[in-house]
Amino acid sequence: MTARASWTAALERRPAKIFGAGARPVVALAPGRVNLIGEHTDYNDGWVLPMAIDRHVGVAAVPRGDRVLRAHAVAFGETREGRLDELAPPGGGGWFGYVAGTAWAMREAGLELRGADLVVDGDLPLAAGLSSSAALEMATALALCDLAGIEWRPLEMARLGQKGEGEYVGVRGGVMDQFTAALGQAGSALLLDCRSLTARAVGIPVEAAVVVMDTGAPRSLAGSAYNDRSASCRDAVSLLRQVRPEIRSLRDVDLELLDGERERLGEKLYLRARFVVEETGRPLAMAAALESGDLRAAGTLMNASHEGLRELYQVSSAELDLITEIARRRPGCFGARLTGAGFGGCAIALVAADRVGAFVDEVGAGYGARVSLPSAVFSVRAEGGARLLSSAPR
Ligand code: GLA
Repeated sequence: MTARASWTAALERRPAKIFGAGARPVVALAPGRVNLIGEHTDYNDGWVLPMAIDRHVGVAAVPRGDRVLRAHAVAFGETREGRLDELAPPGGGGWFGYVAGTAWAMREAGLELRGADLVVDGDLPLAAGLSSSAALEMATALALCDLAGIEWRPLEMARLGQKGEGEYVGVRGGVMDQFTAALGQAGSALLLDCRSLTARAVGIPVEAAVVVMDTGAPRSLAGSAYNDRSASCRDAVSLLRQVRPEIRSLRDVDLELLDGERERLGEKLYLRARFVVEETGRPLAMAAALESGDLRAAGTLMNASHEGLRELYQVSSAELDLITEIARRRPGCFGARLTGAGFGGCAIALVAADRVGAFVDEVGAGYGARVSLPSAVFSVRAEGGARLLSSAPR
């Protein structure tokens, strides 16, 4: 039995064990993601280039006769519950916030949910910057849709997941993570335009592999520092609108305008806005590089993105800088950068496919020799979006 088959098979049996449920559960899986490039651009209406990965969060769900939503998280050994009709923001963080926030946003959109008992498990590292929260939201949404006989509309659900996370949990993220968890494509990254919410698949060349390098460092302050960065972007836009009222977001700003208004912005906002303006074009350039098989160019873009996140946007960490530096020195590495919000968590590297085995071992050993944290290095494949392993009888 593969590792995936064994945890999902165990998950299917858990509602009976934990809640004594008799019905065969609905089982929904949603993938985590890495973002190849285009960081902190989604909430600035820019482009991103994420890829759903072959690590998942799973939700096994059975219906209840009442209006209670109860959930058990295997990773935390914890059960929490709320009444569907009483869920209201602010609901706070913690894993149950993502479950309850998704249900709240679905009800706000007029979807008629049923009470349910859920069990959550998975093989995706938690709180590591691989979007376990969005995977939990999309697996929850898919399971709740199936139980209630609601048609699965992935784009709508991605937006509702984002709304739940923003308003119920209080982390006002962009839509990249939920979009990828809902709409990922096997074998490809997604070049997503966060203004129009349209995406196209960008194939990962067979000569290249994507490797995740989890620093093991917790993403402390991630929520507050993230909201602080997005507030800076909004502040920069308000100031720039004083001279160019047509600007709607940093996507509409170029370096010439930014440099001309450096004094108006002040140094902190200038540096942060500068990063976003530079990063905005990188997903397009990276997609072109991947499509023409120019892995060197792709890697150079990744390194430049990391540099900007470190110097200008200031969301890297000592561990992320170290692991990317170690990676770049290994043979076959085209480029490396932090992925996701930053402040700890994971970095990624683009590596020649025939070097991956040695790369994984050597980066793991090199980093492990310098830092004693529960780090992990592993290669990932591009996966499809959320899907049902078993559905409710109709
Ligand atoms: C987090 C957010 C995303 C995105 C990234 C940074 O993962 O959830 O919406 O903003 O950070 O690119």
